[in-house]
Order: sequence, then C-alpha cells, then structure tokens
Amino acid sequence: MPVDLRTRVGTVGLRAPLMTASGTSGHGDELGAYLDLAALGAVVVKSMRHEPWPGNPPPRIATTPGGMLNSVGLQGRGVEHWLAEELPSLLATGATVVASIWGTEVADYERAATMLAAAPAGVVAVEVNASCPNHHQRGDMFAHSAEGVRAVTEAAAAAGRPRWVKLSPNVTDLPAMAAAAQAAGAEAVTLVNTVMGMVIDLEARRPVLAGGRGGGLSGPAIHPVAVRAVYDVHAALPELPIVGVGGVAGGADAVELLLAGASAVQVGTASFADPRAIARIQAELELWCSRHGVGAVSELIGGAHA
Ligand SMILES: Cc1cc2nc3c(=O)[nH]c(=O)nc-3n(C[C@H](O)[C@H](O)[C@H](O)COP(=O)(O)O)c2cc1C
Repeated sequence: MPVDLRTRVGTVGLRAPLMTASGTSGHGDELGAYLDLAALGAVVVKSMRHEPWPGNPPPRIATTPGGMLNSVGLQGRGVEHWLAEELPSLLATGATVVASIWGTEVADYERAATMLAAAPAGVVAVEVNASCPNHHQRGDMFAHSAEGVRAVTEAAAAAGRPRWVKLSPNVTDLPAMAAAAQAAGAEAVTLVNTVMGMVIDLEARRPVLAGGRGGGLSGPAIHPVAVRAVYDVHAALPELPIVGVGGVAGGADAVELLLAGASAVQVGTASFADPRAIARIQAELELWCSRHGVGAVSELIGGAHA
C-alpha cells in the first residue's frame, strides 16, 4: 500500500511533509539540479529583506562536532530581485514555494511583506524569520521577547498570505513566544532556528567566526533541542500547527519531529553534505511508515503525546 504523504500546515495543503530549511538551499531552483523540487512539500527560500544586504564578512562557517556554526548574516539581493529574477524559474519546476523575510527593524518586515503581496499564488506562505539578530534591539532577536514576536508577526500581515513565524530555541519560555505569534495572527510556527554557539581558534586565541560574536549552531547536534521545542509548544498549544526543523539527517529524525507535534519537517544542514538529502529523507520516511503499518503520515502528528 502506498503511504499517503499529504499534510497540512494551517490552511496550506502540502503534497508531502519535507521542505528545505530557509538559508540552506539558496533563493531559487539551485537544488533542482539534484532532485525533483515538485515532489517536496515546499521549497522555503533564504530569508530576504526589502533591499539587498551584504551579510557578514568571512570566515562565516565553522564545522563543529555533530554540526556546523554559521554567521552568514542573511546575505541577499532583496525581495524585488527575487520576484523578478529567481522566483519564476523556481515556480517553473512545479515547486510549492514559501518566502522568508527578515529585517533589522519592525518596519523592514512590513516593507518586505508589502512587496510580497504581488507574488504569484505559487508562493503559498511567508515564513517570518523573527530569529535573526536585529539592530534595533542592539543585536538581540525579535524572537527573544513576546513583544518582538508580536510586532514582526503583525508587520508581516501585509504579505496577504499565511504567516509561519520562525522562532529561536535560545529562550526560556518558547511556548510563550509561540503564543505571541499565534495571537498576532500566525497560522503556524517554525521551530527551531539555530542555537547560539561559538568556536575559538586556539592558536589565534580569538573566536573563529568574523565579528567575534559566535554564530548559529545547526545539524544533528541540535536535533534533541528541536524535538523538545516542538514537543513543548505542541503540548501547550495543540491547535497551533508547527513546522519542525533542526538536525534532521534521516527519515527517523523526521518521524521523531512529527511524533513530537510537527505537521511538516524542514531539512537544512544535511543538504550541504548531500544536496539529494531531502529526497532521501522523504523516501526513508515513507519506508518507515510502510514498515510500521502507517498508511498516512498525518497519523503521526503529535503521536508522542499522551
Ligand atoms: C548556512 C545557514 C544559513 C541559514 N540561513 C537562514 C535564513 O536565512 N533564514 C532562516 O530562517 N534560517 C536560516 N538558517 C537556519 C535553518 O533554516 C535551520 O533553522 C537550522 O539550520 C536548523 O536546521 P538544520 O539543523 O537542519 O540545519 C540557516 C542555517 C544555516 C546552516
């Protein structure tokens, strides 16, 4: 019996639960050379700003046990360039597309969202990256306070499509941040962005990543952090759809996030090691389901809760 892979994130129906994680597969159809993007749940593109942004100086990547640290700093050419130059070829692959936006000020989110209002219907949702450093709060993140989450979620309403708010695991009370997103109109939350970390160069006796403030840890090392985040938020807010992300490297990791309460799962760092990883993970998820007598992936969602 074939496994029914379909799932829903709020009002958005998806043909499968696996998606790219923002920032790990470019802004366009880059991964299309390696896999059928139309077979995925969605392609979530790298977070964009209303205007071009240079990102951080190198070095901005370091490998760590079980993962990697990055301080790419949201380099990109902005929403206008994306709409005109990158989105058309991505949509032409048949992919379901989710845009992602960020800003250093609340007003930046509104500017980017307003520009996205004109996007074609194939852009089914907007992921609101609340978990990037912002200048307004002197390098803190919007996702570090319920007020910051509320403000950027409301500002992103201008896109006129479902908002998935991407939150940070670097907080004491993640369910409170998810509740703030939900109250401000989010259809879903994406959990989690990277975990703050640092690597020090012993010879130079300085942090490896330029800027000296560390970076975001991703990969298998953070998978249990993501599972707990999804579990806690699903327990507190069972009606709020969750997109789970963090250290998914195989089908079993995806099953774990679904059981914790995610309705869909994103893959980031694993795609750097193998650009075909998402297709493999989706196939492994399907195989796991058929071996365990699970006829539909949606049966797994929240299954670890009593
Ligand atoms: C190099 C790199 C760039 C990233 N850029 C973004 C980004 O632009 N927007 C965003 O919301 N998350 C970004 N992330 C975070 C990922 O989307 C994801 O939340 C995180 O890496 C955890 O998933 P993983 O362990 O599967 O990589 C980035 C991660 C990496 C490694």
